[in-house]
Amino acid sequence: MNDRKQPIYITTPIYYVNDKPHIGHAYTTIVADYLTRACRVLGRPAFFLTGTDEHGARIAQVAAEHGVTPQTWCDEHAEHFRRTWERLDIAYDHFIRTTDDRHTNGVSRMLERMRAATGPDGQPVIYEGVYEGLYCLGCEKFITEKELVDGMCPAHLTPPQRLTERNYFFRLSAFLPQVEDLIRRDAIRILPDERKREVLGLFKQGLDDFSISREKVDWGVPLPFDPSQNAYVWVDALPNYITSIGYADDRDHFARWWTNGHVVHLMAKDILKFHAVFWPAMLLAIGEETPDVIFIHGYFTVNGQKMSKSLGNVIDPHALVDVFGPDGARHLLLTQFQLGQDGDVKAQEFVRQFNADLANDLGNLVSRAVTMIERHFDGRKPPSGGLEEADRSLREAAQSAAAAFAEAVAQYSPNSGIAAGLDLARATNRYFDRTQPWALAKTGQTERLGTVLATAAEAIRVAAIILSPDLPGKARAILKTLGFTDPESELTPEGLYGWDRCPGPFRPDGSLFPRHDKRKPQAQEKPVSHEQAEKPGPPTENVVSIDEFARLQLRTAEVVAADRVAGADRLLKLEIAIGTERRQIVAGIAAHYAPEDLVGKTIIVVANLKPATIRGVQSHGMLLAASDGDTLRLVTLDGPLPSGASIG
Ligand code: MSP
Repeated sequence: MNDRKQPIYITTPIYYVNDKPHIGHAYTTIVADYLTRACRVLGRPAFFLTGTDEHGARIAQVAAEHGVTPQTWCDEHAEHFRRTWERLDIAYDHFIRTTDDRHTNGVSRMLERMRAATGPDGQPVIYEGVYEGLYCLGCEKFITEKELVDGMCPAHLTPPQRLTERNYFFRLSAFLPQVEDLIRRDAIRILPDERKREVLGLFKQGLDDFSISREKVDWGVPLPFDPSQNAYVWVDALPNYITSIGYADDRDHFARWWTNGHVVHLMAKDILKFHAVFWPAMLLAIGEETPDVIFIHGYFTVNGQKMSKSLGNVIDPHALVDVFGPDGARHLLLTQFQLGQDGDVKAQEFVRQFNADLANDLGNLVSRAVTMIERHFDGRKPPSGGLEEADRSLREAAQSAAAAFAEAVAQYSPNSGIAAGLDLARATNRYFDRTQPWALAKTGQTERLGTVLATAAEAIRVAAIILSPDLPGKARAILKTLGFTDPESELTPEGLYGWDRCPGPFRPDGSLFPRHDKRKPQAQEKPVSHEQAEKPGPPTENVVSIDEFARLQLRTAEVVAADRVAGADRLLKLEIAIGTERRQIVAGIAAHYAPEDLVGKTIIVVANLKPATIRGVQSHGMLLAASDGDTLRLVTLDGPLPSGASIG
């Protein structure tokens, strides 16, 4: 069950300490942090676990290569992960290390239970045998001849070891029908669907019993019933999810989060089989509940290649934080792909995206609204008069955004949750364009100005709450500029769905989202005006630098509706979609295109023009067309691409 108030328990894999964290590890951890924070905003109790996987032959080997004890190595490397999460503003509830006593005691307890258990067939779950076969140290897993490529492990490109060991085995075969059934009927829900199909395929291929111990690996948890053997690293690692919350020492806490909670394991596809097959079988054997959701997110590559130290393409999360701050780094990673899709990280896009989403759409908006309230109302809450249609529709947009956020979280979709927040910020920008508060100020319409600014401030407040799981620090900073002295207390369902809550005083915060500029870091840059874009420069200025060109944001847009402009023969008014954003633009193309010819076309627009009023009609953007004498043709694409795609 997944009712939206049931306590939710969210986990990341525990990461190996043989290396330092990179953006792949950071991604899973940020997603988990996002979901935890988002659930709390929605009033759902949540517990978030992450940590480090410290035992096993490989860690022992790496430590030996560096001339330190495994424990020293683990202490140092667990600290790298902790520090990285701290810099990314990750607020886990517990950080588990598999070398903690609490964990090792819990593993021993689980192994005792397993040893005493019988499977559905009445046979003991654990039996002794001899393992003869191959083992990949890099994967820490037994591997079959079939899986090798040219005699090498395909993941690590190293030859496996040949082992002959006396081991204890887990009778997986006895649990397979039950696990398969749980997955088939979504009692263990594997998301996205393609991963569920992949796992169901594994049952068809057949799965062998697995060894739960290693005879010759010293760095691990001894089997309580045979201390000459240590637990196999995965049999030690998987139960971290239960030992951390009191499986062996705090059954009330354990019941709250595990037995009665909604358990969500997040990871990438590399460790799906362990979590979707071995782990549920182990839990069934010891008589505990199985997890509710296993969410497999995408795998990051960098410039088309797997991230690896030897290729030198590892992106260090610290470097991202150095440049973009914790919130910027989180946002850029979270929005790279839809959760669940693989993808190539385009680091060269980071600056553009940061500027577009955070500096322009959100940062400028907050600064415009708060600065005007400070200037015209002395920073006090503006008095609000009667509402007009524009005000009511912005309020409705805020309510829809809150609902969209709640739905996104229920679907484990940070991308849709973030889009809901940014769309609301964009709707508020359009509201400003429509209501023109600067004109109201100029003409002394103070009451109407108050209403507009108060309405905009409320929409900004709701957008900040929706974006708080993505931008925890900046969302709080925005709430502070709106007058909340304890912003945390506003991150609640009352805050999200409520209205007329900004207390003031309103004080601008200049450091919210400084724009990034490759030439002049943090320089403020204004959007280009229609005039600048329309006026041809003198001939000597015809040469444009790449940086100047890059200031123009060219985007694909779909024409959603088109109409003539009354009283202006040459003009058409187009409603366009740029991604999820809707705008109106006015173009002088009526002599060349009938309105009905344009609907559904994908055109190219300059998206960062200052809005203008042309013959009394709002225009926000300019389309590109080529002309030769009397002939004019729209610039279009030579193949389909969704609207909102950038052109450069
Ligand atoms: N220690 C095991 C997990 C035990 S959990 C009981 C392990 N550790 S790991 O350090 O290799 O982490 C693997 C996980 O890190 C992936 O499942 C994923 O969550 C994250 N990622 C590592 N590299 C990644 C990418 N390149 N892209 C996306 N996520 C990645 O396996």
